[in-house]
Amino acid sequence: MTERLTSSHADIARAAAILRAQGLIAFPTETVYGLGADARDGRAVARIYAAKGRPSFNPLIVHVADAQRARALGKWSDAAQALADAFWPGPLSLVLPLRKDAGLSDLVTAGLQSVAIRVPAGDLAQDLLRAFDGPIAAPSANPSGRISPTTAAHVLAGLEGRIDAILDGGACGVGLESTIIGLTGAVPTLLRAGGVPREAIEAQLGFALAHPESSMISAPGQLASHYAPNARMRLDAKDWREGELTLGFGQMECDLNLSESADLLEAAANLFGHLHLLDAMDGAQIAVAPIPQTGLGAAINDRLGRAAAPR
Ligand code: TXA
Ligand code: MG
Repeated sequence: MTERLTSSHADIARAAAILRAQGLIAFPTETVYGLGADARDGRAVARIYAAKGRPSFNPLIVHVADAQRARALGKWSDAAQALADAFWPGPLSLVLPLRKDAGLSDLVTAGLQSVAIRVPAGDLAQDLLRAFDGPIAAPSANPSGRISPTTAAHVLAGLEGRIDAILDGGACGVGLESTIIGLTGAVPTLLRAGGVPREAIEAQLGFALAHPESSMISAPGQLASHYAPNARMRLDAKDWREGELTLGFGQMECDLNLSESADLLEAAANLFGHLHLLDAMDGAQIAVAPIPQTGLGAAINDRLGRAAAPR
């Protein structure tokens, strides 16, 4: 049985109590719904991998209420300070060298000597972090390899009965996961495109981000086929073919449109929801109109590329 909880004071307290008892709580952040557990407790964290059916080499993002708490987990730097000042709370995760005294379960970091940390902006996420008063490990609240959830209904469709409770905060505003920046090497590195555009980060730092030498090593969760609808995907489709389900962008005839006004923010917010809807129509193939590569378009195309990867 998965308890449904609301944003009421009593329900937030209930959610925090479940976390303290090694339970699993799905909760909304501004990016996507997270599947949270006490990041200091190995049993609790193990339940995340079990509920998701997630490969155990995937490290998880640790959520904290503010930058001060982040500094207790990862080794801080000038770049970390600049990015935290500019983008926290918000859809940005920083991978920092793990502090020896961080007190995190090493299941959270999957054995790495680094830790991904973020301060989420969603009101409910902040309320939960403050009520719990500890670090919450939370991957996206979907079964492994499936589309990230942006509503409580998406979460329950995949994880009903496998998690203790869900805090229902409606639809997520950003609709894409956080951007992940690696701060463990000489140069800040873009490990995953996401809710904060790369251009905004580079403007803040005053220099260009590096690309990982091998994303399979530094971001093992970035397996090519991570985001996978059941239908085949045909990307960058300039026309529609007979029998396809069609996902448009801009003014066009299509089954669903990411944004009729070609607004990338709107398209990002719609992306996972629309893929869920099209996938539920049980077609053999989903065709997707071209999406520009600028701003949030990079993250959208990254997600679509993963959804389309051979498997
Ligand atoms: O927006 C988000 O980031 C959402 C919400 C719930 O906060 N969370 C999320 O978590 O997307 P998840 O587990 O689905 O993705 C975590 C990503 C994975 O690609 C993982 O490999 C990477 O973060 N990651 C975590 N720790 C890492 C580390 N120490 N080094 C490199 N990559 C890391
Ligand atoms: Mg995920």
